[in-house]
Amino acid sequence: MSDAPGAGRWVPDTSHLDDLRAAAPDCRGCELWQPATQVVFSRGPSDASMVLVGEQPGDREDLEGEPFVGPAGRLLSDALREAGIDENAVYLTNAVKHFRFEERGKRRLHKSPTITHLRACAPWLEAELGIVQPRVVVALGASAARSLLGRSVSVTKERGRLLGGGYLVTTHPSSVVRLRGREGFRDAFDELVSDLRLGAS
Ligand code: URA
Ligand code: SF4
Repeated sequence: MSDAPGAGRWVPDTSHLDDLRAAAPDCRGCELWQPATQVVFSRGPSDASMVLVGEQPGDREDLEGEPFVGPAGRLLSDALREAGIDENAVYLTNAVKHFRFEERGKRRLHKSPTITHLRACAPWLEAELGIVQPRVVVALGASAARSLLGRSVSVTKERGRLLGGGYLVTTHPSSVVRLRGREGFRDAFDELVSDLRLGAS
């Protein structure tokens, strides 16, 4: 894929999340805005001490315009509850703000963002983190980790410990959802819970 201009020129210089949220629908920093229904920004308080960063909105999120409202979001809610964390006190966002998908008949199948998309969208995430200034930033999965740390990250090797700069890497809830009903689900869920608990401690 060719390069993308990046979100920089659409990100306002502001100390208010509402200004970012209001400007995001106009972003043309990469080509993902076009086939998507709408931009999906973030949810949560601007003074949160913990930020959770996902990959990108999924099908449900794209339709509803809210992050983490689909199956991955429900699993994440369960994990936060089990970790004793108040979901409403956490700031939830994504590395990429538009849904990337492939059409298969009537279905829209999730397609992971490329490094170009992650880079293009990073100015939004940087602006959000600059305003919220959390104590800990939890990367949910490899895409978020790559965006935040600026390098490729092996989630299996690096998850579950505090890295420099207040970063913590854990599994993406979608990959735990995919294990449901199979061997390994409970372990993967418990790992996510213990990583979230570490992040909150
Ligand atoms: N997965 C994500 O990474 N983010 C969402 O908002 C939903 C699913
Ligand atoms: Fe802008 Fe990010 Fe959407 Fe690309 S994915 S258009 S950079 S908001």
